[in-house]
Amino acid sequence: MKQLRLALLGFGTVGQWLAEALHRQQAWLQQEFGLAVTLISVATAHHGLIYRNDGLDIPTLLNLVATQQPLTAHPKVTHWTNVLEGLQATGGDVLAEATGATLHNGEPGLSYIRAALSQGMHVVTSSKGPIALEGLELLSLARAQSVQLRMESTVMSGTPVLSTIREGMAGTRIRAISGILNGTVNYILSAMAMGHDYAEGLAEAQAQGYAEADPTDDVEGDDTVAKTLILAAVVFGRALTPEQVVRRGITTISREQMQQALDEGQRIKHVASLRLLSTDGKEVSRETADSKFVPTLLEARVEPLALPLSDPLAHIDGLLNAIAIQTDTPQKVMVIGPGAGRFQAGQGMLADLIAIAKSR
Ligand SMILES: NC(=O)c1ccc[n+]([C@@H]2O[C@H](COP(=O)([O-])OP(=O)(O)OC[C@H]3O[C@@H](n4cnc5c(N)ncnc54)[C@H](OP(=O)(O)O)[C@@H]3O)[C@@H](O)[C@H]2O)c1
Repeated sequence: MKQLRLALLGFGTVGQWLAEALHRQQAWLQQEFGLAVTLISVATAHHGLIYRNDGLDIPTLLNLVATQQPLTAHPKVTHWTNVLEGLQATGGDVLAEATGATLHNGEPGLSYIRAALSQGMHVVTSSKGPIALEGLELLSLARAQSVQLRMESTVMSGTPVLSTIREGMAGTRIRAISGILNGTVNYILSAMAMGHDYAEGLAEAQAQGYAEADPTDDVEGDDTVAKTLILAAVVFGRALTPEQVVRRGITTISREQMQQALDEGQRIKHVASLRLLSTDGKEVSRETADSKFVPTLLEARVEPLALPLSDPLAHIDGLLNAIAIQTDTPQKVMVIGPGAGRFQAGQGMLADLIAIAKSR
């Protein structure tokens, strides 16, 4: 069996989980899925990139991190302080990119992904920024290079929503998607539905470690907008900018509004939605959705909505995420699952690696 030579950029929570899972399940992954990996390079911001042609030893790497030693203490490695130069010099079959790329400009992940695709490497990534900002361009670069770019962990953190749509639902026409895509925000709204105001809900989420000290990216909707842009690119093949997404956060929702919704049998949820519309703003017919020749618009919104209890999204509470996919056949499909966590994010990358190994 041909070994997959893997470059792993980002060796934090997600990168370490992935490396550990590849090592621990080595024999099973090989036997069940034909996934045999030689980890040839690893990089972090502080330690640069280390490379060893015949493979790095994963337990040694994990031990170096746990004991706060530099990765360069791994035996017989070549070292680059400039990670991009190291990646370009050492290559591999697949890049697993798990750096903390920003939503602002997608870096550093964007440059790493572009470089890897340009040199004919497959890419799996957990970073939202690069796919949200340049997803379509990167997918077309991957196609031109006859390699795969996979990003399961970027939406719902590895709960299999992208592969469900791209592979499981291949052949259906997707007309609309709506979802709850941020666990922190949903946790705060669930606390507010129990009678807390916004400040109390946020404080509880922070006390539980579910919200950052600066929660802006979550509560103002930036994180959900990024996931909406990823869905626009991957599912609908449209490159939207963040400014094209109608966006409202949750910070101004009052206790009274929450109570009124409850009294009227509704739940306020922060909903991301994408909808194909005809150019005059009307819902598209099946014929229009099916036709390559009738122009359509893609409406994108991220906003608090009062949902009736008949809507399954109204029942998604706490840290859970969910997405409802509207197609012609079958009518509506829902995927529900966790939207955060190192296990889910690492698992999404592992599933993407397996998909690549199977297709080789
Ligand atoms: N954790 C989750 O639950 C989760 C879920 C879904 C998606 N994600 C996404 O997955 C990515 C990784 O998340 P994480 O939780 O593993 O983050 P993390 O623990 O902060 O780890 C980030 C890693 O990337 C490295 N890094 C940062 N800048 C770099 C650069 N310029 N070149 C090379 N390496 C660099 C860091 O190096 P240093 O240690 O030296 O700083 C660290 O090893 C993020 O984009 C995140 O949004 C995470």
